[in-house]
Amino acid sequence: MKTLVGDAQPARTPDEGTLPQPETMRIRGGRPLRGRVEVKGAKNLVTKAMVAALLGETTSTLKDVPDISDVQVVRSLLKVHGVDVRDGDEDGTLHLDPSGAVSAHFEEIDAHAGASRIPILFCGPLLHLLGEAYIPDLGGCRIGDRPINFHMDALRAFGATVEKSYEGIRLSAADGLHGADIRLPYPSVGATEQVLLTAVRAKGVTELRNAAIEPEIMDLIAVLQKMGAIIAYEPNRVILIEGVDSLRGYEHRAIFDRNEAASWAAAALATDGEIFVGGAKQQEMLTFLNVVRKVGGDFDVREDGILFRRDGDLRAVTVETDVHPGFMTDWQQPLIVALTQAHGRSVVHETVYENRLGFTDALNKMGADIVVHPHGLEGGTRRVPRRELEQAAVINGPTPLHGADVVVPDLRGGYSYVIAALAAEGESTVRNIGIIRRGYEKLFAKLKDLGADFDIVG
Ligand code: EPU
Repeated sequence: MKTLVGDAQPARTPDEGTLPQPETMRIRGGRPLRGRVEVKGAKNLVTKAMVAALLGETTSTLKDVPDISDVQVVRSLLKVHGVDVRDGDEDGTLHLDPSGAVSAHFEEIDAHAGASRIPILFCGPLLHLLGEAYIPDLGGCRIGDRPINFHMDALRAFGATVEKSYEGIRLSAADGLHGADIRLPYPSVGATEQVLLTAVRAKGVTELRNAAIEPEIMDLIAVLQKMGAIIAYEPNRVILIEGVDSLRGYEHRAIFDRNEAASWAAAALATDGEIFVGGAKQQEMLTFLNVVRKVGGDFDVREDGILFRRDGDLRAVTVETDVHPGFMTDWQQPLIVALTQAHGRSVVHETVYENRLGFTDALNKMGADIVVHPHGLEGGTRRVPRRELEQAAVINGPTPLHGADVVVPDLRGGYSYVIAALAAEGESTVRNIGIIRRGYEKLFAKLKDLGADFDIVG
């Protein structure tokens, strides 16, 4: 049974939502990855755009949808809510017809929510459509507490009533929702999306301050504008939304997945290989590309993607994760694998989540020299203001990596173990690999194309 205190989500039992998947990889490393991979639409846009389809009165069409388990989760959640989701003729195209939308019960939502954090974004659209919504126990990577207080405060500001029970959270809005003035304490991606998905149909104007402005958020704004929403993006993280009475379906090609692109770039650097990432674009990755150059990597921006490789020996760097346009927290985990091969002392300050460096224990088991400072590190020139929750990793390199038996802890950490194993001499066993399917499409096929030597052993 679950209990809720404040707006925190209840702690999950260690394996809940991250149940070991039936795949283990046995990887024989020590050879560079070379070749071409294609990235499709961003997980962190596609799943939100699918939810946005609930707001339309006609069918929406979303293109470049990757075949990943987070998409499957949202697909089945939409189905539970009466949305007809069909595959289109073109690979990666989804048609979403919300005309039969219905309310669903806690148990049904819970059963389909999987390890995803997306169910919380159903609130605004469902409150508009049906006057009520439920939030089950949320999943997602265990990279910090991941509270939902910003979401709940925003929904209350729109006029929703929030009731907590042992099953989860029930929201209602019998008299409809109205525009609100909201200032986020931190530019949270999810809370910004919550406000956008709710404000577009609320009565009146919403002013959102301290909003997240990640490219995936801008792409969600583009989706909503296609649906008939009126959204203005102003300087200094201010977004103005004028509510409208109705929205229609959209047709949209999703922005490419920057996180997957950065992951393959890190794989090229870590294994001393050469990977062309088809579909990757420069504009959305400027900050990442600067770090690639500083660390001694080389990249070649082409019309249809970006080629990544080393440019001589890798060099140590200092990186601070931050909200956009800073260095994304999702990029630091794969980058750290490459930094184990860099000459000197690298420092990664993680300022977004309070527990996103634990994955480095397994890298040390493979021969890396990484020390995590759980309360961050003083000194050095800072660009990002210090946060109470931050941690830092100091990586001394280069250290030869050797094979080990490791268990995937979370999505990006899991991918990082795979590339560490590919860079390492000898054989590694990487368990619980299923988590990686949440965000990496056709991982095994792509790795084979790049010349990786591995088996799936059950
Ligand atoms: N936060 C709160 N209260 C809230 C919401 C957030 O305190 O109500 C805090 C978080 O605890 C964290 C910070 O705000 O310290 C930022 O969290 P944010 O809300 O921005 O993250 P999110 O929306 O839960 C999304 C991505 C993450 C990505 C972050 C940052 C999705 C489904 N997830 O999470 O992606 O790391 O933004 O860019 O979009 C991943 O893809 O592997 C992944 C974890």
